[in-house]
Amino acid sequence: MKILVIGGGGREHALAWKLAQSPATSRLYAAPGNPGIATLAECVPANVTDPDRLLAIAESAGIDLTVVGPEAPLAAGVVDMFRSRGLPIVGPLQSAARLESSKGFAKEVMTQAGVPTARSVTVESAAQAHTAIRRFELPVVLKADGLAAGKGVVIANTREEAERTAAAMLAGKLVGDAGHRLIVEEFLKGEEVSFIAITDGRTVVPLEATQDHKAIFDGDRGPNTGGMGAYCDGRILSPSATDDVLSTVILPVVEYMRGIGQPFTGFLYAGLMLTGDGPKVLEFNVRLGDPETQALMLRLNSDLAGLLTECARGALSETRPRWSTDPSMCVVMAAAGYPGQVRTGDSITGIAEAERDGALVFHAGTARVNGEVRTAGGRVLGVTASGADLPAAIARTYDAVSRIRFEGAQYRTDIGVKGLKRW
Ligand code: AMP
Ligand code: GLY
Repeated sequence: MKILVIGGGGREHALAWKLAQSPATSRLYAAPGNPGIATLAECVPANVTDPDRLLAIAESAGIDLTVVGPEAPLAAGVVDMFRSRGLPIVGPLQSAARLESSKGFAKEVMTQAGVPTARSVTVESAAQAHTAIRRFELPVVLKADGLAAGKGVVIANTREEAERTAAAMLAGKLVGDAGHRLIVEEFLKGEEVSFIAITDGRTVVPLEATQDHKAIFDGDRGPNTGGMGAYCDGRILSPSATDDVLSTVILPVVEYMRGIGQPFTGFLYAGLMLTGDGPKVLEFNVRLGDPETQALMLRLNSDLAGLLTECARGALSETRPRWSTDPSMCVVMAAAGYPGQVRTGDSITGIAEAERDGALVFHAGTARVNGEVRTAGGRVLGVTASGADLPAAIARTYDAVSRIRFEGAQYRTDIGVKGLKRW
């Protein structure tokens, strides 16, 4: 089977790494891929928001199965395009991808489906924002309706800050068009969990829970990023907590979407806050998480190509995947300046040394220049390893991280530490 992975980040490198191990995989392709993926797959240049180009790649290579990594191609309708040509693909149709591309739509679905989430009001003018901001206690959360690459959420500590931010977002000054509609919502306290399930629109199979670390600095300080590291550990959610999230969050959404004639297929990712009143949804993503996937793939013992094929065929089996009991984790090494303007073009050394003792280094923002791997984006590498217990996974991953060097590298030194209390 020829498999195409759409995307070119660390998540896609981890998917390609896992797919390459499947007996069903005869050949792997990636569009556009990256220098790490290029060691496993044929990388074809592509703009991932151009569904015509992606379809042309799949048709000319005779691809049997496609899996989409990032949200942008899903929001651009790549699944609609592939399905209209009868090509098996894992991901939601454009209409269902609105669960991520429109936070207002996601809120509406949660309200209709009775899914626990923060109380909120959707506003479209500064006057409406002014009234809404007064309805909540401080801090108050402001969210741009549209896709904003992780930069669309502001937690305001004063009403003045909230009003200023709301006005700037609505005027298109903070996140462009994504901010023309805003969600004003209640601040939730608790621990965050990434809960991802795969579904063919009817059957739902949960993956193991993971925890991401969104803030740039240790101790969850500093601005939010796409994710600075994640760990995957069977102790994050007990089996009964997992069933609770399935029955209160994932299944109601999947059933609701089917009921409105827009069945959701692919990966449904609920960003949860575990509050004193139970799990509540912060957001939905319609894809796998990055860097959650890097940690997940390391623990997955089942055949990924088989799981994806069942999903694309609409014949997902109820059987839950098998997971290694060893916790895993991924530390993101980012370029200087991230999550703002980043510095690129620096040479990276030590990747082979980092991988010597069993760690894996997934590429994200890298480029090969004159035979040398250089930095080429915000999140540069995802150093990933597992261990017999969480402390061992942490030690092993950071040992690998310490062997990698590039100018201005920044990474968090506390990935996985929140999980230690469960050991
Ligand atoms: P989102 O893109 O909606 O996941 O928001 C990004 C981050 O902002 C989340 O990972 C949380 O850390 C934080 N956040 C979002 N909504 C809330 C909320 N209602 N209460 C507290 N923190 C939130
Ligand atoms: N790591 C968070 C995300 O993929 O959205």
